[in-house]
Amino acid sequence: MFNVEDIRKDFPMIVNRPDLVYFDNGATTYKPRAVIDAIMGFYAGYTSNVERGDYETAVRADRAYDNTRAVIAKFINCDAKEVAFTANITSSLNQIAYGLAKGWLKEGDVVLTTEAEHASNLLPWFRLARDMGIKVEYIPVDSQGLCHVEDVKKAMHDKVKVVAMACVTNVLGSVQPIKEIAKIAHEYGAFMVMDGAQSVPHRPTDVRDLDVDFMGFSSHKMCGPDGVGVMYGKYEYLSKMEPLLLGGGMNARFSSDGSVILKDAPIRFEAGTPNIEGVIGLGAAAEYLMSLGMDNIMAYEKELRAYFREKMLKLDNIDFYNPDNESGPITFNVKGVFAQDAAGYLGAKHFCVRSGNHCAKILHEVIGTDQTIRASLYFYNTKEEIDRFVEAVSRITLESVIDIFL
Ligand code: ALA
Repeated sequence: MFNVEDIRKDFPMIVNRPDLVYFDNGATTYKPRAVIDAIMGFYAGYTSNVERGDYETAVRADRAYDNTRAVIAKFINCDAKEVAFTANITSSLNQIAYGLAKGWLKEGDVVLTTEAEHASNLLPWFRLARDMGIKVEYIPVDSQGLCHVEDVKKAMHDKVKVVAMACVTNVLGSVQPIKEIAKIAHEYGAFMVMDGAQSVPHRPTDVRDLDVDFMGFSSHKMCGPDGVGVMYGKYEYLSKMEPLLLGGGMNARFSSDGSVILKDAPIRFEAGTPNIEGVIGLGAAAEYLMSLGMDNIMAYEKELRAYFREKMLKLDNIDFYNPDNESGPITFNVKGVFAQDAAGYLGAKHFCVRSGNHCAKILHEVIGTDQTIRASLYFYNTKEEIDRFVEAVSRITLESVIDIFL
């Protein structure tokens, strides 16, 4: 049974800081006690490196680390050997772009994406454009950031070798029809790369059903620790892909003549000592989310967002950019008030939101403004928090903001 009041007790930040209304979950999320305990358990009970030691605590650390791979495989429905641990989704997407460039792409090939993407799903492709003559092209999106299948069909052509896009975009929260887009990409022999940063924490993700070739997400946006992420790839591609980082742990042997034999995927993508406590904490986070049920989380957040939307639509002092989207953040501006000033006013009243361009720096070409306030929810938020927030937003004027800061 999904009971938000019980769930809130699992989060020390909510218990310790009842004064805060945390609506910056698109940036990062609070951590439940289960995650904190898993990390503490490793540091206090069996600290050691992984894949290197034969003593009791090292074997225990190996098991806990490998267990997360199995948990994540269950969480996104793939094989454990298709899950590589990275530093965050940014490093996953950089690895994917690098690996595709090394093994599959050539000058003149096209990467198709959208103007609603986060920097981490654009800049790695821009570098390929600069360094090897790849072209980056954009599928049009509508005013809510949504990409329509008909437009994908029109944008596809024989030179497209990669389609790379977020399942849920980070500013407008548009849910893209990834399964249909992957099907079209495959009809043209292109790879489908999905940025799962803002979707994996909020809705069930089945990479086999979506039939994406690569996918990445970050632990810290799904109640897990910072500094750890996942790169999923179909094993047939991961097993041939060149790693971006080289070093200890990922090679089987090397010789003085410079020859190197790599370990199999996914270990070949985990050079150096990994973020062991991060991976163990990520496993605990995924277990925690699965215990609540991703379907339940999605349904509750949908209800919260619909409630929030209705209340925001009644305000006449705001511009609301994504009222039509069913999920994701509420993104708006207060008329006549710079976004960061309004966010500072809200911050002074203990409401945590993000303002600015949210790393999606070409989205302004779609929505006509590059500064917005983003209130992003998670399953531990409540309607009562929304009521307080909307009431505070309704009171924002240039004068009230000046009063707060002077
Ligand atoms: N990518 C994160 C966000 O959208 C940090 O806020």
